[in-house]
Amino acid sequence: MKTRKILALAGDGIGPEVLAATRRVMDWFQAAGRIKFDVSEGLIGGASYDVHKTPLTDDTVTQAKAADAVLFACIGGPKWDTLPYDVRPEKGLLRLRKEMGLFANLRPAIVMDALASASSLKLDLVKGLDIMIVRELIGGIYFGEPRGVEQLPDGTRRGYNTQAYSTAEILRIAHVAFDLARKRGKRVCSVDKANVMESGLVWREEITKLRDAQYPDVELSHMYVDNCSMQLVRNPKQFDVIVTDNLFGDILSDLASMLTGSLGMLPSASLGAADSSGRQPALYEPVHGSAPDIAGKGIANPLAMILSFAMMLRYSFNLGADADLLEKAVQSVLSSGIRTGDIAEAGQTPVGTVAMTDAVVKELTRLAA
Ligand code: IPM
Ligand code: MG
Repeated sequence: MKTRKILALAGDGIGPEVLAATRRVMDWFQAAGRIKFDVSEGLIGGASYDVHKTPLTDDTVTQAKAADAVLFACIGGPKWDTLPYDVRPEKGLLRLRKEMGLFANLRPAIVMDALASASSLKLDLVKGLDIMIVRELIGGIYFGEPRGVEQLPDGTRRGYNTQAYSTAEILRIAHVAFDLARKRGKRVCSVDKANVMESGLVWREEITKLRDAQYPDVELSHMYVDNCSMQLVRNPKQFDVIVTDNLFGDILSDLASMLTGSLGMLPSASLGAADSSGRQPALYEPVHGSAPDIAGKGIANPLAMILSFAMMLRYSFNLGADADLLEKAVQSVLSSGIRTGDIAEAGQTPVGTVAMTDAVVKELTRLAA
């Protein structure tokens, strides 16, 4: 059996707790003889800044590029909020995405039956919801030049950023969305702001051309981002795959995550282009942030990160059956009423991170027997 090299980056806040939980699940798969891992840990974000005065060292970048997959938790916190942009925790993550070429960010928003009533929307609107948001991750206004802050002659300042997308950047993310749609409901909704922005117009036209030329079997619709945010709350089940740019994807995926009942439940995968040997750079991370308010209290929900590991099994190692097993274990734990505080409902006593992980590991053993 091939040994898979994993770089694990705990980052900040609740990161170390949810990573420790996920490593226990990984250990279970290894002990069960299903996969072999060689896991090393590295620093990113504020944790890296505190030691190295940078949120990401070249050494960690090298390790990430050499790994078969990177497992990353979350970064940031009030402690580092006043640092200059180029050494902020967020910069470490943005640089890692860019250096690894992770242009495609897959953010599923799935409502598990057991959690449907934890959503802030009415049950019938979200029950059975299964959307995939495909977010462009290394272009657009996050990285566009010129950017900066300039001093104006009158002593005031002007901050500016650039939104730009080229044909090549649009086509490679559109391919990911169309290919995914073919394995699902065969519908793609492309989201932009083409009524105001030239970059949005190019986005819309290039995606339409690609669909007509190569994906006639996939239904394509277009939506302005403001309308899309409204539609996600009004009738989320109308969507199958949503493809959108970096900034809109950031915003819409937080919105979509809340439809599912908790940000603490949502995994994501960030993928690059496969090289000639088929090796594809990949990073898996929960959508939630570092939750500094509950860090170190042992109450964080580890499920988003555990489910991110399931995505790793599926997308990086082609271990669909193992991913299914893990997702099923999580679902039955939830069905049995075991909940962390963020997803507990009236009458349910919340458990901590360790107890939730115990339950998942126990359920894995039971299901695999
Ligand atoms: C996300 C986060 C990041 C982003 C931050 C931490 C830089 O919000 O992954 O959605 O904006 O991409
Ligand atoms: Mg975000």
